Amino acid sequence: MSEFLDKLQGYADLIDEELEKLLPPRDNYQKVLYDAMRYSLLGGGKRVRPVLLLVSAELFGLDKETVMPFALALEMIHTYSLIHDDLPAMDNDDYRRGRLSCHRRFDEATAILAGDALLTYAFEVAGEGVAALTAKAFAKWDGEAVAAYQKILPLLAKRSGTEGMVGGQIIDLKAENNTIDEYEHDALCRMKTGCLITVPAEIAVLCAQKSGTEEGRLLTEYARAIGLAFQIKDDILDVEGDPALLGKNTGMDEADNKTTFVTLYGIDGAKTMLSDLTMRAVDNCLILKDTPGCSAENAEFLKDLARFLLERKY
Ligand code: IPE
Ligand code: IPE
Ligand code: MG
Ligand code: MG
Ligand code: MG
Repeated sequence: MSEFLDKLQGYADLIDEELEKLLPPRDNYQKVLYDAMRYSLLGGGKRVRPVLLLVSAELFGLDKETVMPFALALEMIHTYSLIHDDLPAMDNDDYRRGRLSCHRRFDEATAILAGDALLTYAFEVAGEGVAALTAKAFAKWDGEAVAAYQKILPLLAKRSGTEGMVGGQIIDLKAENNTIDEYEHDALCRMKTGCLITVPAEIAVLCAQKSGTEEGRLLTEYARAIGLAFQIKDDILDVEGDPALLGKNTGMDEADNKTTFVTLYGIDGAKTMLSDLTMRAVDNCLILKDTPGCSAENAEFLKDLARFLLERKY
């Protein structure tokens, strides 16, 4: 596991370096907006989503650079979702990533705008990424590659928006002071959390032109499983995690009277679901490992990642 952890850290460090380059400190009229964006984006975070994208791309033989703009965009979208999630009108959380949440460190209006700006910048960066890839594919008269690249932005928007993360967040608000049934709760979690963990796999599939292939399906299914598992673990950690390790307060779901995996299935039931989903994800990695054209090393890393996310304390 320590080899895996070193590798994970290496990927996360690379993402941090690239994010720093993308968003250097600025001293202009809108300085406070840059400060708030940098505060939330560069202040820790496991970088699970961008790492998943880099590793998935490598699984299919692409290099990291091909998907880097999308990895960075994804982390910006995720960070914006956390800034807004912490606002008083939503979960009203004072701590995030081991420090004050954005609206507590700055103010509410600045936090709302920092979130808006990260979301918009994400699509600027991803759009430039698509333009660069498309230009290269045009030079080679590769129409199929161009068609695949052109699906990236609408997909990223869909997974982030009404049918994805934002849609999940509105159902989540309904689950506050209100019981929703397990079907609606399942949809809510697949949308609010699952979508942004599945989309890295889906983008890798598009970039490698693996749509419709068995390996593309296995990877996407893997990401769907760990995406749902991720929220189960988050709900468990909210009950039994250590705030010092987590970098955010615990007991918040209970305080907000939310329907969670723990309230619906009990802590043991939630743990069983978590390990079942992880096993399903691991199974897919074992098949991918033996699939010609897939990197066994990267399939192994994805397997360890699923287990790491199961056991994580933060
Ligand atoms: C927290 O996401 C919010 C959920 C979707 C459960 P992460 O646990 O990935 O948060 P960071 O990025 O590491 O801070
Ligand atoms: C957050 O779910 C999902 C998002 C889309 C941000 P939570 O509200 O449970 O995440 P935490 O516990 O605040 O990190
Ligand atoms: Mg929330
Ligand atoms: Mg929250
Ligand atoms: Mg939570």
